[in-house]
Order: sequence, then C-alpha cells, then structure tokens
Amino acid sequence: MEKSVSNKSAQRTVKSSQGSINKWALPVLTQLADGKFHSGEALASHFGVTRATIFNAIKALQALGLDVFAITGKGYRLPHAMQLLNLADTLQHMGEHQGRFHLQVLDAVDSTNRYLMQASTQGVAHATCAVAHIQTQGRGRRGRDWVSRLGASLTFSVLWRFNLGAAALTGLSLAVGLALARAMRNLGVPQVQLKWPNDLVVVQAGVLHKLGGILIELQGDMEGPSAAVIGVGINLNLAGDIVDKIDQAVTDLTRLRGQPMNPNQVLAEVLVALAQVLNEFERNGFAALKAEWSAVHALHEAPVTLLMPDAKQIKGRVLDVAEDGQLIVETAEGVQKFSAGEISLRRAA
Ligand code: BTN
Repeated sequence: MEKSVSNKSAQRTVKSSQGSINKWALPVLTQLADGKFHSGEALASHFGVTRATIFNAIKALQALGLDVFAITGKGYRLPHAMQLLNLADTLQHMGEHQGRFHLQVLDAVDSTNRYLMQASTQGVAHATCAVAHIQTQGRGRRGRDWVSRLGASLTFSVLWRFNLGAAALTGLSLAVGLALARAMRNLGVPQVQLKWPNDLVVVQAGVLHKLGGILIELQGDMEGPSAAVIGVGINLNLAGDIVDKIDQAVTDLTRLRGQPMNPNQVLAEVLVALAQVLNEFERNGFAALKAEWSAVHALHEAPVTLLMPDAKQIKGRVLDVAEDGQLIVETAEGVQKFSAGEISLRRAA
C-alpha cells in the first residue's frame, strides 16, 4: 500500500493533469464498435461535422493503437466488433447491487488513482468508482508504470472511506486481491490465483503470468478516519505490440476464456465482489479472510526470493500470511515476517 505523505500531486489542476484525446475519437469509435463499415460521409453526417474531422478522429484512434482499416469506397472499420465501457451496461450487470457505487466513466485520464486521490480531497463521495477508456500515465506498485491501452485493459479506481485509521488498514491490499479472485471465479476463470501481496496471476507451465494488479494509496491519519484509493488494472486483450512494452510474463481474460469478455460485465462483477469484501474487512479485518486468501496464493509453501527495496535478495520458503497481511517466510535466519511496502516476491528457481 502506498501512503500519500504530501498532497502535492493532488493539488495539480485537473486541466493540466488529465489525459487529453481528440474529442471525436471515442464518439466515432462508438459507431465503429459494431465491426461494420462506416463511410466518412455517413459518420460526418451522423455527428454533424466535416469529413476532415472524422479523418482526424480516425487518425487519433490509430495513434491510440487501434487497427482501423480504411477502404476506398467503403469507409472505415475495425477488424472485429468491440464492446466498449458503458455506464448503463455496467449498472445492468450489477443488478440489485448497482446502488453501491457512484460510477464515473472517463474518456481519458492520466491515472484513475491520481484522479480520485485529488477528488477525495475535494469531498467526492464514499464508494466512487472512476473507470477510464484511456489511461495515459497509469501508476503501478514500486514506482513502476502500468501499461494499458484502449480496449486492451480495464483500468479503474475506487475511493473507499474508512472510519478506521490508516494503521488498521494493513491487510487491505490482500483483501482487495481476494475480491478480484472471487470475481474471476464468478466470471468463469477459476484458475486465477494471487501472488503476495496482491498480483492477479495464472500459473502456466510453472511460470506466473500476470493478469492484473492493484495499487492502493491512502489518505488520512493513522488513528482515523482514512480514505483508500483502490486502483485496479486487469488485462482484457493484450493484442499486438503492447505485450512487448511489458517486462514480465502476462496473460489476459480473452486468452483465458478463449473469447473476448464484456468489460462492463468484468467491472460489475469486480465491484460487487469488492463491496462485499470491503464490508467484511471493515467488520473483521483481514483475519477473517486469511484462510481463503492462502488457498488461492500461487506461492503458498513455495520456495521464493524476496527482492527488498535496497536490492538485497532474501531466499526462503513461504509458510503463510499473518492476520495483518504480512508474509511469513522461513529463511536461513529463521522465520521472518515481511510487510508489502516496496517488496517484490519471485518464485525461486
Ligand atoms: C501493480 O503494479 O501491479 C499495480 C497496478 C495498478 C494499476 C491500476 S490501473 C488503474 C489504477 N490507476 C493507476 O494509475 N494505477 C491503477
């Protein structure tokens, strides 16, 4: 879990820090999403703009990594139909649970975490979820970037306000991971496991492939109340050169399910599971979720190497996780506990 020690980044203006894209790119994409041909003329007349405006929007979509074909005499089309993020569809998939979140669908933003960290200081409501079609500067754990692309990944953050102080939130990031694992099971991807502290992984031929990650940033006092911005990135369909930009083994939901998944259904399922787990966590802490968590830990009882923030490596064997979310490892120096912070965990060779 990352803590906000200063509000400097949250004070940047929305205008300068939000990602910006051609304003017609997403409306045009909404038309092209059926995978059929649309002529420049028909699109221009649909939106009441010039064909040059449509041409520029298409160029912007191509620059965002989408394959938009242009065939003379026929128009523009995507290689296949595409399901886009859509507020109404997400709410419909949430069914009776839809009142649990205030959902915002953003066209483009630098980082949904940064966006909600800032909004939080301006009084945005508890249980606000911001999901972005495009995230231009996604933040990962340990100061890394989170690589995502329009249509390739689901990127969203949730602001959750706690009466508990920040000190009581150790274990929160593991609890959130468990919510994701439950959601994946409900979505028909039961092979998804967790890697401490909170990576979503699938083990293929003994190798851990990352499906998603969680970045939690905290605001507030150690004594309380506090707020957490829970950022989640899930790979939906990492086609093309995007995989080359990621420096670890990855997988995505399309590959795991053998067919594309509706991002609105994935988001809905994750939010419902998240609300349930966060309520359990607030009542009983991580202790009540620990056994279920260990059962889906890909490195439970496995030989591991811990990469410490000072680049030191510690070898050992995972014994368990503690009730506060620390990892319990048997090392050459005896049984030791590690808290998530900036540590990275690898399976030992
Ligand atoms: C990790 O390093 O595994 C955590 C990745 C978290 C990425 C998500 S994408 C949505 C949210 N906004 C961000 O800037 N980061 C998180």
